[in-house]
Amino acid sequence: MKNIAIIGAGSFGREVAWLIEDINKKKKEWNIVGFIDDNEEIQGKVINGYKVIGNIDSLKDHGEIYVSIGLGTPNVKEKIVNRLRQFQNVKFTNLIHPSAIIAPYVSLGIGNIICAGNILAVNARIENFVTINLKCTIGHDVILNDFITVAPGVNLSGFVTVGKKTDIGTNSCCIQGINIVENTIIGAGSVVVRDITEPGTYVGVPARKVFN
Ligand SMILES: CC(C)(COP(=O)(O)OP(=O)(O)OC[C@H]1O[C@@H](n2cnc3c(N)ncnc32)[C@H](O)[C@@H]1OP(=O)(O)O)[C@@H](O)C(=O)NCCC(=O)NCCS
Repeated sequence: MKNIAIIGAGSFGREVAWLIEDINKKKKEWNIVGFIDDNEEIQGKVINGYKVIGNIDSLKDHGEIYVSIGLGTPNVKEKIVNRLRQFQNVKFTNLIHPSAIIAPYVSLGIGNIICAGNILAVNARIENFVTINLKCTIGHDVILNDFITVAPGVNLSGFVTVGKKTDIGTNSCCIQGINIVENTIIGAGSVVVRDITEPGTYVGVPARKVFN
């Protein structure tokens, strides 16, 4: 079994622990060594059965260790990954829930998390450190760039391309062929029917910009 630490002991961190436990039920692959969190107040606490074993800097004192980013905010994910890339001993992996359906010709970079109930259709391209929360459909030929977070129940139709660090709210959807620029926030329940060419926050049906 390979050692893995979960970065972030908050809500999504706990979900990542559950995801890893479900992977292990199929095939004993991971030994969860604990949570890593920069919050000094929770050091040593046991959360859902796993101890908070240190802050991010403490990781450099381990031997070879895999990490998974249990945080949802795209900018925060990027900052943490940039710190972790300094540590030679830290490795990244993809975590894919056994219930996820991944079609042939889907490509995955590294550091991605694909939670329970997802369906990724043929030729979808998932770059790096993308989080796809519960029960989404990612259509054929969709491209999800680095650090995107997709909330539960999102449906992206075929040939949608999403720029890096975009945050896609729960139950939103995109019609086919849409391009969404990087650093965009799509509100919960929104329907994207036109390309989004300027970063900002977009909500509603059809989705319109509410603020920068
Ligand atoms: C879009 C979003 C990021 C905006 O949050 P915010 O910056 O705190 O903005 P506010 O709540 O102040 O809302 C600003 C305005 O947009 C409206 N609005 C916010 N979210 C909306 C949505 N999803 N659909 C339609 N209108 C929305 C608000 O009603 C408000 O309008 P008003 O000024 O007329 O009252 C947030 O509401 C949202 O939808 N987040 C997605 C959350 C999610 O999917 N979480 C999953 C976690 S796993």
